[in-house]
Amino acid sequence: MPDTLTITDNRTGAVYEVPVEDGAIRANALRRIKLDEDDFGLMSYDPAFLNTASVRSAVTFIDGDKGILRYRGYPIDQLAVESTYLETAYLLLFGELPTEDALFRFEHEITYHTFLHENVKTLMQGFRYDAHPMGMFVSAVAALGTLYPEAAKVDDPDVRLQQVIRLIAKVPTIAAWSYRHSKGLPYVYPDNDLGFAENFLAMMFKMAEPRYVADPALVRALEVLFILHADHEQNCSANAMRAIGSSKVDPYSSTAGAAAALYGPLHGGANEAVLRMLAQIGAVGNVPDFVRRVKDGEGRLMGFGHRVYKNYDPRAKIIKETADAVFEVTGRNPLLDIALELEKIALEDEYFVSRKLYPNVDFYSGLIYQALGLPTVMFPVMFAIPRTAGWLAQWLEGVVDPEQKIARPRQLYVGSGERDYLPVAGRTTGSSELAGVL
Ligand code: CMC
Repeated sequence: MPDTLTITDNRTGAVYEVPVEDGAIRANALRRIKLDEDDFGLMSYDPAFLNTASVRSAVTFIDGDKGILRYRGYPIDQLAVESTYLETAYLLLFGELPTEDALFRFEHEITYHTFLHENVKTLMQGFRYDAHPMGMFVSAVAALGTLYPEAAKVDDPDVRLQQVIRLIAKVPTIAAWSYRHSKGLPYVYPDNDLGFAENFLAMMFKMAEPRYVADPALVRALEVLFILHADHEQNCSANAMRAIGSSKVDPYSSTAGAAAALYGPLHGGANEAVLRMLAQIGAVGNVPDFVRRVKDGEGRLMGFGHRVYKNYDPRAKIIKETADAVFEVTGRNPLLDIALELEKIALEDEYFVSRKLYPNVDFYSGLIYQALGLPTVMFPVMFAIPRTAGWLAQWLEGVVDPEQKIARPRQLYVGSGERDYLPVAGRTTGSSELAGVL
């Protein structure tokens, strides 16, 4: 059987044969399908890219029906148990697990680039006392680009690597300082004797003690959370990273754009919504009534369901185990009992089972962040720290891909046809939309 698709245009009776490669047809192949020579050619219309592959990628594999997530071929559950965040970041960026020596040098490079230029501190101090930490994060990452103008040379592999190191190293410092700022606390400088997660916890929580000592169980839990959030193939923010990067702008600008995409409640903010929902339910006894209301269409069970995973979210199981380890140290989050009861009832209920709705990564991550003492506004920032590695892996792949060009979708124009301009004095019709507003 040939690997082709035969299309009959019923408007003209013409028949076309289109090649099928890797389970896809090239959308551009449709342009041959025309009504006549003047016709632009057929386009595909796909709002939100529901069925359009825009890249060939070797970074992350997801099979939503089977609940599979792999970075560079390695199952996420193996990485979560065996690996560290920096080793996983190396894997995502360069395609293979590092040798011992390469890992040592990578960790060393990252550690020695965690400091921020003092100008970034001044910039962050200029924010209002109650500025959202994610707004500060996005701005500070963009501002970093002004300090490294050579970053504009995105076609130079050495320059690219230098910025990748800087970005992965500096985002935890920016994240921690955005938190300290919102608390009115002095910013804490990085400590080069500490590992990645430990250093982050120290910059977040150190007070007057000479050296902040984090509980090893919390350090490991944070590493696991960072590994689980490091990449998720072509999601909204990765797509933003690639689209902005396709203009060949410096990676600080692209990363700031990707972080801005993550800031939205439909992407990095669902874990916050889970906590608000659990607080609103208030007690285990209220769970059945809440589930009934969700089934009646009065809102959604936040932290349940996923666009891609229709069996289970492999990250959710690992997060639940991580939550147990964290609560051993911090004490049980009182909202946990409500979450467990919700999960139990929902997993047995025909409404959720028939719609393939299972807990996703956000169902338990917010409970962990809260147990660590973080306010909900910090949750998307916690997501952005590790996702920076994934954004950069996607960017590195995109900038050297010979098939990629500047991202520029088509549109189906639905506005008016050509019309002549009328000076305002003689205009008898027109828009009065703003009349009552301004
Ligand atoms: N609670 C109750 N019903 C739901 C839920 C939910 N959380 N999610 C989907 N449904 C129902 C929905 O009403 C629909 O029912 P019906 O067929 O009767 O109309 C059916 O399930 C299919 O829903 P959909 O909206 O077409 O599914 P989707 O794939 O477009 O939505 C989703 C995916 C994640 C946006 C959605 O499940 C949702 O809103 N979940 C809650 C928010 C959430 O937890 N988001 C975090 C996603 S994981 C983070 C990440 O990886 O980026």
